[in-house]
Amino acid sequence: MLDLVAEHAPYRAELVAAFERVLDSGRFVLGPEVEAFEQEIGKWIGVPHAVGVSNGSDALLLALQAVGVGPGDEVICPTFTFFATAGAVARLGGVAVFVDSAECCYNLRTDQVAAKIGPKTKAIIAVHLFGQCADMDPILAAAKKRNIPVIEDAAQALGAKDKGRMAGTMGTLGCFSFFPTKNLGTLGEGGLVTTKDPDLAEKVRKLRVHGAKVKYFHEMIGGNFRLHELQAAFLRVKLRHLDPALKKRRENAVRLIRKLQDKWKAVFPANHCVCEGEDSEKQTADSVLLPFACQAGDGGHTWNQFVVRIQGQGKRDSHRTRLAAEGIQSEVYYPRSMHEQACFVRPKTSGEFPMAEKLAAEALALPLSLDPQAVS
Ligand SMILES: Cc1ncc(COP(=O)(O)O)c(C=O)c1O
Repeated sequence: MLDLVAEHAPYRAELVAAFERVLDSGRFVLGPEVEAFEQEIGKWIGVPHAVGVSNGSDALLLALQAVGVGPGDEVICPTFTFFATAGAVARLGGVAVFVDSAECCYNLRTDQVAAKIGPKTKAIIAVHLFGQCADMDPILAAAKKRNIPVIEDAAQALGAKDKGRMAGTMGTLGCFSFFPTKNLGTLGEGGLVTTKDPDLAEKVRKLRVHGAKVKYFHEMIGGNFRLHELQAAFLRVKLRHLDPALKKRRENAVRLIRKLQDKWKAVFPANHCVCEGEDSEKQTADSVLLPFACQAGDGGHTWNQFVVRIQGQGKRDSHRTRLAAEGIQSEVYYPRSMHEQACFVRPKTSGEFPMAEKLAAEALALPLSLDPQAVS
């Protein structure tokens, strides 16, 4: 789906120089490269505190721990997401309370977020799926009424905007992943926690090193969630190339959409954003549905994944087989929502999240680099 060797080729020399700089420095974990990266990415996102951590999954764990999520606490999050979102809640003994996806952009339904806030709700995780922000205003408004922290799972959405506001700047904390397939990827693993709150930033910094500000004096139980110097040095190189890379992704997405409208007679799933749970009138059974950008014109979508829906019983999988025969790779994000995972399943949850269940059966990610001429 992604040719990272080709992607790195134009700035290979810069990556090699970064490697040599770290090799010669003798500092390999949490040093000047990490500090410089935190400053640079914080400035790029527009947030005062950015803390480099081991990966995006741990970023979520740290953010939840920083706002005090513990055993028995409920955390509202979408069921249709990558495992790490709900997994982080469970790792702290919390209970993920799932909401369904919206018909437009497949982000979480904001009406359900408001409806599911209850006495045990300790936090809300808004996932910015596939590179596009969830509709944050209704979520922030519902959370504010009860003073509940909102964590943005922006693992897939570095640089995405909601009404001009950058992902990772709207909630109490933002969490990012630098897994190689992300729009800004390390040559290994990495993650980031962002916040405007200096106390929370300080807490995350401590939790990152076993809860100690002064080495060997532990104020809280944290873990080893440190970012490596080498990965920070690579990220600093790649950050310098991020703006043109995002521009190219947006251009590719527009070209691919036009081609699929033409060749596959694909249509958008909605005419406008229906994140608040309104039914879309646009759905036609059996058609191919294009990714819909709720924030069109704002540069909001970063197209970390280009996900279409192939409607009709079993059609997604047969389509995938046909594409593979034509040499076109595709991927299923995600074949099973969280409420149906063996480790989370609770009685009578199937059927409760109809949109998520449709997505699990119909979603198909196409390579954004796909040459539109190759689409038949
Ligand atoms: C939505 C979401 N959350 C969290 C993560 C976890 O990030 P990482 O793989 O860096 O642990 C990912 C990674 O794919 C993700 O897509």
